[in-house]
Amino acid sequence: MATTPIFNASCSFPSTRGIDCKSYIGLRSNVSKVSVASSRIATSQRRNLVVRASESGNGHAKKLGMSDAECEAAVAAGNVPEAPPVPPKPAAPVGTPIIKPLNLSRRPRRNRASPVTRAAFQETDISPANFVYPLFIHEGEEDTPIGAMPGCYRLGWRHGLVQEVAKARAVGVNSIVLFPKVPEALKNSTGDEAYNDNGLVPRTIRLLKDKYPDLIIYTDVALDPYSSDGHDGIVREDGVIMNDETVHQLCKQAVSQARAGADVVSPSDMMDGRVGAIRSALDAEGFQNVSIMSYTAKYASSFYGPFREALDSNPRFGDKKTYQMNPANYREALIEAREDEAEGADILLVKPGLPYLDIIRLLRDKSPLPIAAYQVSGEYSMIKAGGVLKMIDEEKVMMESLMCLRRAGADIILTYFALQAATCLCGEKR
Ligand code: PBG
Repeated sequence: MATTPIFNASCSFPSTRGIDCKSYIGLRSNVSKVSVASSRIATSQRRNLVVRASESGNGHAKKLGMSDAECEAAVAAGNVPEAPPVPPKPAAPVGTPIIKPLNLSRRPRRNRASPVTRAAFQETDISPANFVYPLFIHEGEEDTPIGAMPGCYRLGWRHGLVQEVAKARAVGVNSIVLFPKVPEALKNSTGDEAYNDNGLVPRTIRLLKDKYPDLIIYTDVALDPYSSDGHDGIVREDGVIMNDETVHQLCKQAVSQARAGADVVSPSDMMDGRVGAIRSALDAEGFQNVSIMSYTAKYASSFYGPFREALDSNPRFGDKKTYQMNPANYREALIEAREDEAEGADILLVKPGLPYLDIIRLLRDKSPLPIAAYQVSGEYSMIKAGGVLKMIDEEKVMMESLMCLRRAGADIILTYFALQAATCLCGEKR
């Protein structure tokens, strides 16, 4: 009887270890308050255990018919009770060479020998609380599948979106980031729809906050979904992306999102000086408590392809190389990070994720701020495609990729896998 509570107590720690989904089973209860709730349960159970163990200790000795002193005396007299014999050495296959063992002072495999030791010495863990779920929304009533992102939809802002958020919350994902598909007719060259208080994003934020006041809503601050040119900033006649004028628009966009109830505004545009400007604009309007997650190191990456299809936001000409970073550059990420820190960013983001683990590690080591990693559309779609073609085990590769982002130093991960991975962490199949 006394052993049962011990077992339960350790099982109620839903620590999120290993990259194999099977080891996560049991996380489901209290997903949102995992550590607090579970440690409380464990403590009360442990207290019970102390009482019961000492009570049952005496009872046990009597049942066997000998007191402790009698047992000791028997052993001292050479009457040792029988235990199972020493197990035989497992046989090696015929033909295995017979050799002298290597003289090794260190055999790291000892600490990996069993599931218990592996779990005990695991350095990184992952939980649904680490995920931010990017969601595509549109004005429609239906959810439209996104061809290049199997399993992702442009969700109807009033129905599909709300259901998806409910599913995510049920498995402990309580943070989302919104990406709007804006009707072509509302786009112009200065992206003015971006700060329409009644536009798709502010309207959606108000709806979600009304239904789920504790949901953490991140927003994207950039002009591309609203720009008839498909660029993150205002494009001059000669193709130059205008920095300071764009920042002026971004400030209005961020304030409009904050007014609707956004918790974290996330400039993804890579204009210079936008974090400081947005901070001042928010503060001037009384939004001191709205956070800024800066896309600090956002690279001009081909991994964004599927996303641009989802939002129909491909640049109408040229590329984004005059504002997004050169994928060949490492030190430059530090320049961006220093600026963002000085300008008041609350979170530094690296994007894409897996191909840029060195940048995540760099920022993690150089900055005390929380680090976010964005596992972007192309990374997601490659894993999905490999899974569909049965070339890889989709679920295992998904969990491994997310664990690796954590190991590199990401506190939070923006991932289209958020719901699927959290479901898996909770020990459930979709
Ligand atoms: C645009 C933006 C992009 C993504 C997030 N915000 C695309 C781009 O910069 O062209 C990409 C996300 C993804 O690929 O998943 N401001």
